[in-house]
Amino acid sequence: MDSKKIYKIGVISGDGVGPEVIEAGLTVLKATSEKYNFGLELIKYDFGGNRYLKTGEILPDSAIEEIKKLDAIYLGAIGHPDVAPGILEKGILLNLRFSLDQYINLRPVKLYPGVWAPIKDKGPEEIDYIVIRENTEGIYTGSGGVFKKGTKDEIATQIDINTFKGVERCIRYAFQLAQKRNKNKKVTLVDKANVLTYSGDLWRRTAKQVNEKFPNITLDYAFVDATCMWMIKNPEWFDVIVTNNLFGDIITDLAAITQGGLGIAAGGNINPEGVSMFEPIHGSAPKYTGKNVICPIATISAGAMMLDTLGEEKASLSIENAISKALGEGMIKSLEAGKMGMGTKQVGELIAKLVV
Ligand code: IPM
Ligand code: MN
Repeated sequence: MDSKKIYKIGVISGDGVGPEVIEAGLTVLKATSEKYNFGLELIKYDFGGNRYLKTGEILPDSAIEEIKKLDAIYLGAIGHPDVAPGILEKGILLNLRFSLDQYINLRPVKLYPGVWAPIKDKGPEEIDYIVIRENTEGIYTGSGGVFKKGTKDEIATQIDINTFKGVERCIRYAFQLAQKRNKNKKVTLVDKANVLTYSGDLWRRTAKQVNEKFPNITLDYAFVDATCMWMIKNPEWFDVIVTNNLFGDIITDLAAITQGGLGIAAGGNINPEGVSMFEPIHGSAPKYTGKNVICPIATISAGAMMLDTLGEEKASLSIENAISKALGEGMIKSLEAGKMGMGTKQVGELIAKLVV
């Protein structure tokens, strides 16, 4: 009797190049599931700019309720040139992160062998750390408001929310991860505690408190501005970075370029007790839509993270190894759109073939 495990995966391809990179990612995931003897039941959702423009619907509550029953979500990209900025991002992406309480945004920063990256003298040995970005609070909650809009007296506030519960669980996750990783056994708290003294103090006090439970992990602090410098100058100093929502958003774009660009940077929106969502950290890149030129490795790597989170560690590792092989042996020429030496679809097929 075949009793293989079947995972229910919600697939939101989204806008722009989203559907192409997701297609390539699914090619790899399907090949991997066959090799490792588990099943994938795909539930496809067409939320995104086109649906919104046609029907006015963004992401209904009923869909969120349905999604809560799945095992994971695989997401392409959200953002459409004909829709005002913020509507889809807040209505779909942030809505899912918040509604599903995906309080960790896990963003590995790893330079693969054979990948061109802009920092001189820093290779795969030096560029290998993880950013844990708090994902459900901070300045992203939409708290605040506007008063006397359009007048000379206009006031706009955007409030930075930090709760002990939110900060503690995020920092705890970072320490657990540092424990699991075999690197410097170090957590670096990135903040701006020299100016944001109230929230900075909450984060630092909480980090110290959590650190007591992980005595073999070193807790280090860095201001976010200086962190931008260290990420270029001495990326080898980092093992696990933990930071708030906005700082995490900003530094992970910088981190992405140090690992070869947005074509390879993957992210997981994780609720360790619930439904998690995996995506490339790049956007919808409308100008490349439908051209089969965009690099799908970030999405493929996000798929590997998804399998790891689902408990299919070996299958996940096999995808990571396949990516390493394809890049390390020069089979993919570049991560830049149009310069890979093959198309988006072909990269998916190549990596699927290399999964062993
Ligand atoms: C990201 C993106 C999103 C964010 C946008 C699209 C809302 O930049 O995932 O990093 O700011 O979180
Ligand atoms: Mn971002």
